Amino acid sequence: MVGKICGTGSYVPPHVMDNDDLARIVDTNDEWIRERTGIGKRHIAEDETTSYMAGQAALRAVSQSGIDPEEIDMILVATSSSETVFPCAACEVQRIIGAVHAVGYDLNAACTGFVLAFNTAQAYISAGFCKTVMVIGADSMSNLLDWTDRGTCILFGDGAGAVILKAAEGEPVYMAAHSDGKKGPALTQLSRHRKDWENEQNKESYLHMDGQGVFKFAVRKVPEIIEEVLEEAEMNLEDIDYFVLHQANKRIIEAAAKRLKVPIDKFPMNLEEYANTSAATVPILLDEMARGNMLCEGQKIMLAGFGAGLTWAACLFEW
Ligand code: UT7
Repeated sequence: MVGKICGTGSYVPPHVMDNDDLARIVDTNDEWIRERTGIGKRHIAEDETTSYMAGQAALRAVSQSGIDPEEIDMILVATSSSETVFPCAACEVQRIIGAVHAVGYDLNAACTGFVLAFNTAQAYISAGFCKTVMVIGADSMSNLLDWTDRGTCILFGDGAGAVILKAAEGEPVYMAAHSDGKKGPALTQLSRHRKDWENEQNKESYLHMDGQGVFKFAVRKVPEIIEEVLEEAEMNLEDIDYFVLHQANKRIIEAAAKRLKVPIDKFPMNLEEYANTSAATVPILLDEMARGNMLCEGQKIMLAGFGAGLTWAACLFEW
């Protein structure tokens, strides 16, 4: 058995901050941000929490799939910015959607989290432990940022995306995942929230990143792991209809496409609108592709994520 996607959903907060808005806060400008990242704006949570956004994305996935929430066995939420350490966001999603028979738990692998949660769900389904799994990526990055640091605050946004996987007969799913803990210092975040830090005036508590280090890592490791999965599947790059990559920076995606020698139109992007929503980028993009009628049965989709840890993961499945 494999997990087939039977519904997708996403949610972003209505409040939009464009590059000009940011230029009023830090020394930056629209031209620099667009040129170096491809980002035009980001949606920023005001009162919306991570688990609220996850719940809204989940409700939309349920309504698109037509399944009864009571059928869901498991809810996995990939997040590194939940408003509570516990209860986990997945249990709050369970309450919101009424998935009374599900077990829920969160996974944290930063921006790679959704792809790893998707792989975890596939493993539960293929082992026969679950039949219907809700997989969500949700993050409120705006709570983690130092809004005086132009090197990081321009990059991120808030949002959530969800997919429902249902056990079915089908083509096998192929996956790979790696970590390099030695490179942990390249991207760090202490586990507390902005409002506490503001009181303490402690800048060390915000997200810290070696931008160029992460950039080089991503450009090397994303093509490598895609090739690794293809080798396992005994398939070629030409067999893949879409490469759905973590949306961190347009230049990273373009560099990966170039290294792989695959036309850029096979790499859909939406970071102009949402920026980097961490674990939410891949499922938000999948939802937009599904609702935009870009996807049809039998297409081969490659997911690939990368981020703090450092971690990177990929998954190849049939739509
Ligand atoms: O999910 C994973 C999360 N992380 C990532 O994906 C990050 C990956 N890295 C990146 O996307 C890029 O490294 C950045 C977008 C963060 C930075 O782009 P870059 O091309 O590596 O720029 P840089 O850090 O080398 O900075 C170039 C110049 C510097 O000025 P000088 O020293 O050349 O005078 C920076 O001070 O640009 C300056 N700069 C800015 N200027 C205007 C840095 N940030 C800004 C800014 N606005 N926001």
